[in-house]
Amino acid sequence: MDLSFALLELASNSLDAGATLVKIRLRVGRRAYLKVSDNGRGMDGETLKKACEEGFSGKGSSGIGLYQTAKCASQSGGSLKIRSKIGKGTSAILKAGQFETGDMAASLAVILDDESDIVFKARIGCKSVKLDTRRKRDETGGISLSDARTKAIVKQYVNENLK
Ligand SMILES: Nc1ncnc2c1ncn2[C@@H]1O[C@H](COP(=O)(O)OP(=O)(O)O)[C@@H](O)[C@H]1O
Ligand SMILES: [Mg+2]
Repeated sequence: MDLSFALLELASNSLDAGATLVKIRLRVGRRAYLKVSDNGRGMDGETLKKACEEGFSGKGSSGIGLYQTAKCASQSGGSLKIRSKIGKGTSAILKAGQFETGDMAASLAVILDDESDIVFKARIGCKSVKLDTRRKRDETGGISLSDARTKAIVKQYVNENLK
């Protein structure tokens, strides 16, 4: 199971759900823990029940993201648990036994956009990194997060701290 890919799937769902804030927590040791929580539109009980079914999509999309992620997590000796409240938001907790961390910085760069803020806190082994785009926006007076240069800076910042 590739954690950076899982991050991409989970956070993309958050953005698609209209989240203005996506919080990402990652802890990597012998096992891995990844939590993605958002303040998007959330899911009602029926949708939540079907969310991880193969091919189910509430937005006319492929509907394989959560299915694949859950399957990989369980095959790795872990799990994917999703909690959601309509109008409040969603959180997904992924645990993995066997995994590859993948390119977290690249995934993070992909999900940066101007409609939402991201809080990313990661600990990989003894290295850790923290990024809060709300703070960056304040410091720079409304930086564009979707700008390729911003993405490159974020990538470099995350990589430098985690390597
Ligand atoms: N963070 C989320 N907030 C609200 N709804 C979600 C979220 N994640 C998943 N869903 C719902 O579950 C469905 C299935 O998600 P997924 O398997 O990733 O397929 P897809 O993104 O292709 O629709 C989504 O279409 C959406 O209706
Ligand atoms: Mg998806």
